[in-house]
Amino acid sequence: MSAPTNIACVKYWGKRSIALNTPINSSVSVTLDQADLKAVTTVTVSKTFKKDRLWLNGVEEDVTKSKRFIACVTGVKNLATEKLDSSGEVLVDKSEWKDYGVHVSSMNTFPTAAGLASSAAGYAALVACLAEVFGAIETYPGELSTIARQGSGSACRSLYGGFVAWRMGSDNDTGADSLAEQVFDENHWPKLKAIILVVSDEKKDTSSTEGMSTSVSTSKLLGYRAKEVVEGRMRGIEKAYGEKDFESFGMITMQDSNQFHATCLDTYPPIFYMNDISKSIIKLIHTYNKWKGKIAAAYTFDAGPNAVIYHLEEEGEELLALMLMYFPDDKFLGSLVGSEYVNNEEEWRKA
Ligand code: ADP
Ligand code: DP6
Ligand code: CO
Repeated sequence: MSAPTNIACVKYWGKRSIALNTPINSSVSVTLDQADLKAVTTVTVSKTFKKDRLWLNGVEEDVTKSKRFIACVTGVKNLATEKLDSSGEVLVDKSEWKDYGVHVSSMNTFPTAAGLASSAAGYAALVACLAEVFGAIETYPGELSTIARQGSGSACRSLYGGFVAWRMGSDNDTGADSLAEQVFDENHWPKLKAIILVVSDEKKDTSSTEGMSTSVSTSKLLGYRAKEVVEGRMRGIEKAYGEKDFESFGMITMQDSNQFHATCLDTYPPIFYMNDISKSIIKLIHTYNKWKGKIAAAYTFDAGPNAVIYHLEEEGEELLALMLMYFPDDKFLGSLVGSEYVNNEEEWRKA
C-alpha cells in the first residue's frame, strides 16, 4: 500500500495524553498527492514469525518495545475479521490472528524525519496495510484513524484525501473520539496546488514528539494558542476552503505556521526548526504577495526547515520561476491536493 503525506494548515503541537496520543488542540491539513511524496509499505503475516519486525528504508528498527508500533498492530487486530478462500471456506478464523507475527517493510520516497510528515505517511500506510491483511472493519467512521493516531498524531489525517480535520475529542479514557474526518474531498478545489522546497533532507535533531513534549511543559504561548486561538482558526479555514477563498485560506495558514514556530522559540530551551533559507522564503513570499496586491501564495513549515507553498494554478509558473531564481540549489517538488492511500498490489505483481 502507499499512503500520502499531509501538511497541516492549522498545526497540531502538544499532547494532552501521551499514553493515548491525544492532542491539546484540533488541527487541519491538506493531503498531498502521491506523485512525489509517499510511504510505500508491505506487510507479511505468518504464524511462524516469532516477533514483529520493521524495516524502514531498508534498515531494521527494533519495534519490540515500540508503544506506537504495538498500538497499531493490536488496534487493527482488534477489528480483524475471518479470512475466507474463494469457495467461502474459513482460512483463518478471526480469533487466530493474534498468533500471527507481522513483518513490515516501508520506504519513503522523500526525506524521513525532515519535517515533511514522514511519520504521517508511514503510520497511515502501516495501518492501511494491516487493515487490508486482517480484514479490519471499523465499528464507527474514523476508528482506523484513532489507531493511526497512536502511531503518530498527524498520521490520522493521512488516511483521508482532500482537506482533513483531526478533531481533538473529549474522551480522555479511550481517545475514541480523537479522530480524523474528511471536510472536503480531493475534487473540491482542483486549482489548489503546492510547491515543496526541500531545503534540507537531513534528519532533524529534535523529533516532533520530543519537541512538543518540551513545548507543553515550558511554553506559556502554547497553552494560550490551544485555548484561545486554534478553534477560531479552524472555523475560519474550513469556511475559506469551502468557499475556495485563497486569501483567507493563505492568511490563516501563514499565521498558524508562524505561531507554531513562535511556540518553538518560546519553548525552553528553544527549538529552531526553520533555518535562514526558510526565513528568506517567508520574506520572498510576502514580497511576492505585496507585488501581486493580494495573498497569492502561502507558506507553511512543519517541524523542519522545508517549505510547502500553497498557491492557485494560475500562479504556479511564476512562483516556480521565482523560487528557482532565488533558491537554485534546492530541490523542488510539485503537488496538488491528493486522495487517500492506495493498494498497489496488482500493479506490483504486474511489474
Ligand atoms: P516527520 O517530520 O518526518 O514526520 P517525525 O519526527 O514526526 O518526523 O517522525 C519521524 C519518525 O517517524 C521516524 O524516525 C520513524 O520512526 C517514523 N517513520 C517515518 N517514516 C516511516 C515509515 N514509512 N514507516 C514507519 N515509521 C516511519
Ligand atoms: C508540526 O504527528 O509527527 O507536523 O504524534 O508525536 O508522532 P507525534 O507527532 P507528529 O507531529 C506533527 C507536528 C507538525 C504539525 C502537524 O502535522 O499538525
Ligand atoms: Co511527524
